[in-house]
Amino acid sequence: MSSISLRGVRKTFKGHEALQAIDLEVQDREFCVLLGPSGCGKTTLMRIIAGLETETAGEVAIGGRSMKGLAPRDRNIAMVFQNYAVFPHMTIGENIGFGLRMRKAPEAKVQQQVLRAASMMHIEHLLERYAGQLSGGQRQRVAVARALAVEPDVLLMDEPLSNLDALLRLEMRAELKGLLRELNTTTIYVTHDQTEAMSMADRIAVMYGGHIVQYEVPAVVYNHPATRFVGGFIGNPPMNFITDAATQAALGCTPRPGLTLGIRPEELQASAAPSGLAVQARVVEMLGASQQVTTRVGEELLRISLAAQPSVRPGQTLYLHAQPSGVRWYDTEGHLLA
Ligand SMILES: Nc1ncnc2c1ncn2[C@@H]1O[C@H](COP(=O)(O)OP(=O)(O)O)[C@@H](O)[C@H]1O
Ligand SMILES: [Mg+2]
Repeated sequence: MSSISLRGVRKTFKGHEALQAIDLEVQDREFCVLLGPSGCGKTTLMRIIAGLETETAGEVAIGGRSMKGLAPRDRNIAMVFQNYAVFPHMTIGENIGFGLRMRKAPEAKVQQQVLRAASMMHIEHLLERYAGQLSGGQRQRVAVARALAVEPDVLLMDEPLSNLDALLRLEMRAELKGLLRELNTTTIYVTHDQTEAMSMADRIAVMYGGHIVQYEVPAVVYNHPATRFVGGFIGNPPMNFITDAATQAALGCTPRPGLTLGIRPEELQASAAPSGLAVQARVVEMLGASQQVTTRVGEELLRISLAAQPSVRPGQTLYLHAQPSGVRWYDTEGHLLA
């Protein structure tokens, strides 16, 4: 059992509150993604779980056991960080076996685990090479293999793919997801990339300003963003927010005084008939399977995602309706109404 439980975890750096009372429960074998913009506290939280940083208040428990006062090496955790330190003067084999040798594992066990982890990452043919000779993608594989070799209860990955180019990221993302499903590891994976989060997570914890603002399965985070921040951060293009009552009414919704209407770009329907909200297409972007149309209503941008055909011309007038099932309402604090 290696569930992870955070209760009221806070971290203050010289008076600056980097984390404000974080509660998080990750189940045994769950793949949890921490998603949020730069500076929201993701790395700080990971370092606290790993024992590299001490919490100002609160508690971390792994497998039901408090980690208070335990050094990183006593937590059976493995980490892969963004700036993965692969030692250039060691061979790949030595790199992968490093964690086990540090833990004084018998040499036969080290050899066996190195081979196993290397074959999982498809780098068993590179074991004798020096790490300094590897490409970025290969080094990334070595870093992951080194983490897997110790058979950790908990795997912490902090933006592990962010140094790779776009194509390699996609490939590694799918591979890691498949691999981690097969292992009995509980994983927390940090990213600021919402697509990566949506595609990999069992559950996403969305962070903002030192808080977790929503912790749910990807579909719920996408379809029912708990705050305006979440709706704007997740989805490309982001959720539309409409405060003007006349605009809300024109879209076919009964306006609710003081509330903001939130609607995803694909939940707006366009028709040629002159009824609904009349807008002019300003920018049309053809994306293959769909086209994205940007319009403006008053001061605000409105983004619409439409089927690729019939194609929309810039300047063309569209009549918009809100799909009722896609309508969400947010209060003045930006919180979703139940
Ligand atoms: N060692 C530190 N000393 C002072 N401030 C820090 C330290 N580490 C992080 N911070 C601050 O804490 C906040 C969260 O940082 P971090 O956890 O690195 O965010 P993220 O990983 O989400 O980008 C930031 O405002 C950052 O400047
Ligand atoms: Mg970080």
